[in-house]
Amino acid sequence: MNQEQRQEIYEIARNWIYEAGAQIREHMNEPLGIEAKSNPNDLVTILDKQTEKFLVDRIHQTYPEHHIIGEEGFGDTLSNVDGTIWIIDPIDGTMNFIHQKRTFAISIGILHNGVGEIGFVYDVMDDILYHAKRGEGAFKNDIKLASLDKEKKLEEAIVGMNHFWLCNNKVVDYTVMQKFVRTIRGARTIGSAALELAHVAEGVQDAYLALSLAPWDVAGGIILNKEVGGIVGDADGNPWNPLERSPAVVANPAIYGSIIEFLKEGRK
Ligand code: IPD
Ligand code: CA
Ligand code: CA
Repeated sequence: MNQEQRQEIYEIARNWIYEAGAQIREHMNEPLGIEAKSNPNDLVTILDKQTEKFLVDRIHQTYPEHHIIGEEGFGDTLSNVDGTIWIIDPIDGTMNFIHQKRTFAISIGILHNGVGEIGFVYDVMDDILYHAKRGEGAFKNDIKLASLDKEKKLEEAIVGMNHFWLCNNKVVDYTVMQKFVRTIRGARTIGSAALELAHVAEGVQDAYLALSLAPWDVAGGIILNKEVGGIVGDADGNPWNPLERSPAVVANPAIYGSIIEFLKEGRK
C-alpha cells in the first residue's frame, strides 16, 4: 500500500468511524436488545451488530476487493493475511457500554499483506480518536503522541490488567502475578482492551496484560503502539498473530522484557 492509498483509506475510514460513533450516541438510550454469547458475561447488543454491519456494508461498497474480520460475524473467515484486511471491533467494552454508558471504543486496524497500515481507536463518549498511519506517527485527536519513555522502570509502571491474573488461570501461576503486582507501582482495569492499548501508546499507562484477546480487540491499538515504540506480543514474547486469539502483552519497550521474564517464571 503506498502513501496515497493509505491516506485515502484513512480519511474514508475516519469519516465512517465518526458517523458510527454518532449513531451509537444517538441510539444508546433506546432498548439495547442485550444477548449473551459464549457465557453470561460475554454480551452483545443491537448496536454492536448494527455498527459492525454499517462499517462492513461501506467497506464492501467502496472496496469490494478488501477482506474483513469482524467480531459480530459480518466479516469473512480468513486463513491468511494476504491483501488488505480490516479488523473491526464495533464496540470494544460492551459491558461498560451497557452498564456504564461510557469507556468503550470502536477499534479498527487495517493491514496490507500482514503489515499494519492504519489504526483507529475511537473513545465514543469522550470523542477522542486515537489514530495512526504506518510511518507517520500516532495521534490523539490532533496531538501527536510522543515516543514512549525509554527510561521507564517496572517499579514505576502502571499496568492495565484484570483480576483474573490473580485467580487460578490457564496461562500463568497466579502467585507469580501476585509478586508482579507488588513489584509495579499500580494496576488498573478499564474494561476496554482497545482503550488500554491506546493508553499505553499515549504513555499514560505503561503496559496492558490480557489472558485472552481476539484480533479485533488489539488490531487498531497495535498500529498505534508501533508508531510510538510500544511492543505487542503474546505471553511468550512472540509477535502478535492477527488471525488468532491468544494472551496479550502490550508494553513500553523499556519494561516489556521484564514483564515477559515474570510470565516465563510462572508460565503453564
Ligand atoms: C472485551 C473487552 C474487555 C476484555 C475482553 C474483551 P468486548 O471486548 O475488551 O476489556 O477484557 O477480553 O473481550 O467483548 O467488549 O468487545
Ligand atoms: Ca473487544
Ligand atoms: Ca466488541
